[in-house]
Amino acid sequence: MADDTWALRGDLLDFTGEPAWGQLKPSQVRWRPDHWLLVRGQRIEAVQAQPPGPEWRRVDHAGRLVLPGFIDTHVHAPQLDVLASYGTELLDWLNHHTFPAEARFADPQTAQDGAQRFVQALLRHGTTAAMAFSTVHESATEALFAAAHAAGMRLITGKVLMDRHVPPELQDDVLGAEQACRRLIARWHGTGRLAYAVTPRFAPTSTPAQLDMAARLLREDQGLYLQSHVAETQAEVRWVGELFPEARSYLDVYDSRGLLHRRTVLAHGIWLDDQDRARLQDEGATLAHSPTSNLFLGSGLFHWRQAQAAGVRVCTASDVGGGTSLNLLRNLAAAYQVQALLGERLTAWTALHSVTLGAAQALCLDHEIGRLEPGCTADVAVWDWAQDPVVEHRLSLSRDLHERLFAWFMLGDERLLRSVVVAGRAQAATA
Ligand code: GUN
Ligand code: ZN
Repeated sequence: MADDTWALRGDLLDFTGEPAWGQLKPSQVRWRPDHWLLVRGQRIEAVQAQPPGPEWRRVDHAGRLVLPGFIDTHVHAPQLDVLASYGTELLDWLNHHTFPAEARFADPQTAQDGAQRFVQALLRHGTTAAMAFSTVHESATEALFAAAHAAGMRLITGKVLMDRHVPPELQDDVLGAEQACRRLIARWHGTGRLAYAVTPRFAPTSTPAQLDMAARLLREDQGLYLQSHVAETQAEVRWVGELFPEARSYLDVYDSRGLLHRRTVLAHGIWLDDQDRARLQDEGATLAHSPTSNLFLGSGLFHWRQAQAAGVRVCTASDVGGGTSLNLLRNLAAAYQVQALLGERLTAWTALHSVTLGAAQALCLDHEIGRLEPGCTADVAVWDWAQDPVVEHRLSLSRDLHERLFAWFMLGDERLLRSVVVAGRAQAATA
């Protein structure tokens, strides 16, 4: 029996499209209880109700929930070191906690250890693909790509660009940064499951010349991604207004330079206006809503429905270490609560779609990940429904599938994770 030919049994859930806002029984939910997922090599070969033949090694997770591995569309690899740092809002938090932590990644050993810790931590939290910030350092970004490559994981990352308003040891310059980006792109973009994201940290820490350089890189290769932050706090928005007085809005700083496109993912977008949302929609760019970060840093309440109504794609992301957990279930629970404070209701379907198929679509990777579909790469997570008797009892009283999934993600976290499969291989940390 070939070791790379095996079948996973469990309750399979994924999406065939985007569920409408507020819809409890959308046709796009694909629920296949007690099914078998057949894996050959790196890929899903079939999904079926009947048990497979003897040539398939069986891995029986009957009664457990099988989902596509989660996709975190906005997270900072070096910021595991500043999780839960007390007492500051965004701009102080960057200066007091985050920049000193990121400066330590200049040391190759720190960067290598940090990269490995980050990749393994994502997997242990049920996340099999991510779009991540590295630090300003080329060598630390190398180490991050290398760690993801060794794990066979799909990672999109890039060296952070920042040539002003940061401590001197973290400051780059336009020419040096461009050369570093070009070397990293040549080495890693398209290598295995990796891709490069041009990564200006946010408008305040890049000169106009550096943002123009970022746009130049993007124009040269349609496959490159762009990641940054936008309109996270009101103080930040005011600062951007002072630094770029000619821009109509914060978003316009990026837009006017051609930084918005189909592969652009901007974190937050809390303080945008209708015109900004229309521009995001026009360009097909994505907002990475980061609810635990927004609550922890007191940044504001993101109006998801307003963005969705404007046709803007929204994913849910961890934004660790502003966010307080790499686990996307915890972030979805926070997302529900943020919407509740706005008088809106986030369904389990919109929530789970935003970290699976929706995130894959945001990254133009839905032919590859985010679905339990023959031909897709087998990036899969197996979850217990419950471990605690109180939760188990609560779930047993669910009247329908939505109620069950909703209670599951509101009450669950990474401790429910039983197994993670990356490109067809069960990971040791969770197997
Ligand atoms: N804005 C600029 N840099 C950062 C960061 O590291 N985290 C968050 N949440 N916002 C930012
Ligand atoms: Zn961030």
